[in-house]
Amino acid sequence: MAEIYQSLHEARGKDYRAEAVTVADLVRARNEEADSLLDVACGTGAHLRHFAGLFGTVEGLELSEAMLVRARAAVPAAVLHRGDMRDLDLNRRYDVITCMFGSIAYMKDAGELTSVLRAFAAHLTPRGVVAIDPWWFLETALDHHVSGDTVTAGPRTMTRVSSTERVGNTSHMTVHYVVAEPGVGVEHFVERHALTLFTRAEYEEAFRRAGLRVAYVGGVQSGRGLFLADRAPGGRG
Ligand SMILES: C[S@@+](CC[C@H](N)C(=O)[O-])C[C@H]1O[C@@H](n2cnc3c(N)ncnc32)[C@H](O)[C@@H]1O
Repeated sequence: MAEIYQSLHEARGKDYRAEAVTVADLVRARNEEADSLLDVACGTGAHLRHFAGLFGTVEGLELSEAMLVRARAAVPAAVLHRGDMRDLDLNRRYDVITCMFGSIAYMKDAGELTSVLRAFAAHLTPRGVVAIDPWWFLETALDHHVSGDTVTAGPRTMTRVSSTERVGNTSHMTVHYVVAEPGVGVEHFVERHALTLFTRAEYEEAFRRAGLRVAYVGGVQSGRGLFLADRAPGGRG
């Protein structure tokens, strides 16, 4: 999956550069001097590669070694940490902490979400900004959703078909991939994801409990929007 992840999403139309520029513009509107950035759940480094041209120093954190291998190749100058965001403890602070493409929804409940946001807050410089590209909200998620694409990138032709079912406040997404490559043949594999459907109010409450003042920018990130948060005035640094 790590091998095809980025080329598949880019071929499906995901514009990592445009997303990175949107985040940088929204962050700079809050802190024009923002210079250091940490991308949590950085995956293959697809945003980081562009953040590296927009900020002075960039770092990433990622759970999956297979994804990190790609990120190291994509952004060789960046410090990349292997780790779980739930245990974030890097002993340094950043002007910007990002968490993109719904990765925050791997948090199972409001308790985990709040504790991760507290850790983000503890890693922020005084004027630092957190930018989170959330998964769909409970109130915007569809009960059932299917999608499918066939794309060609480099030597590979790839089909991705997904089915997502809402069960309570969780999206259960099953994704089938068929990948064909000359000289290799055709491979099929399946991924299953459970993503928590927090309400917008639950996200906002978790930011507040973490001592962060939050704003929600709708419309961006394929319609999922973006949370931008900084230290609440009078909050502890
Ligand atoms: C949908 S991908 C997003 C990757 C990248 N941010 C992007 O936009 O392409 C979700 C990523 O979150 C990572 N991830 C999942 N749970 C994590 C955790 N608890 N801590 C750190 N990374 C995690 C996965 O390994 C995967 O790379």
